[in-house]
Amino acid sequence: MSIRPIILLPDPVLREVSKPVERIDDNVRKFAADLFETMYDAPGIGLAAIQVGEPRRLLVIDLAKEDEPKAPQAFINPHIVSRTGEGVAYEEGCLSIPDYYAEVERPKEVNVRYVDLEGKEQEIKAEGLLAVCLQHEIDHLNGVLFIDHISRLKRDIVIRKFRKMARDKPPARMVG
Ligand code: NI
Repeated sequence: MSIRPIILLPDPVLREVSKPVERIDDNVRKFAADLFETMYDAPGIGLAAIQVGEPRRLLVIDLAKEDEPKAPQAFINPHIVSRTGEGVAYEEGCLSIPDYYAEVERPKEVNVRYVDLEGKEQEIKAEGLLAVCLQHEIDHLNGVLFIDHISRLKRDIVIRKFRKMARDKPPARMVG
């Protein structure tokens, strides 16, 4: 297992639409283990493959609190089959947009169909934080960020800020 570098705004990779995972094998399981390790290290409660630069439809979530045992969940090729309930506002953040939080309104409940790490088809009804997290992470697979759901004015401000930070920072990799 290894911790992968997380891609930050405004990297255009975050706007890519990820491709379905064709086969669930040990490579995919190993990659999912890397995603979990990267997410726990950050730390965060959700991470999509594209956030480490891999445009595959795979995401991981763990909503366990610090004093609770780990509860890792991997979702392969997830899609939302139905949305119900009034929009609920929740303050979201993103590992690709560190230290920025904003309220986003999303449907209260979603039914999500996906494949698990054993290759079995599953469907869950998610509400509360899991519903928020799944919608946020599935957005990533479609190149959508949570800041796309806030006002244009606020979005432009945060994008400008991250663009400036990326410019001011020395490159993360030096290739000689
Ligand atoms: Ni995110």
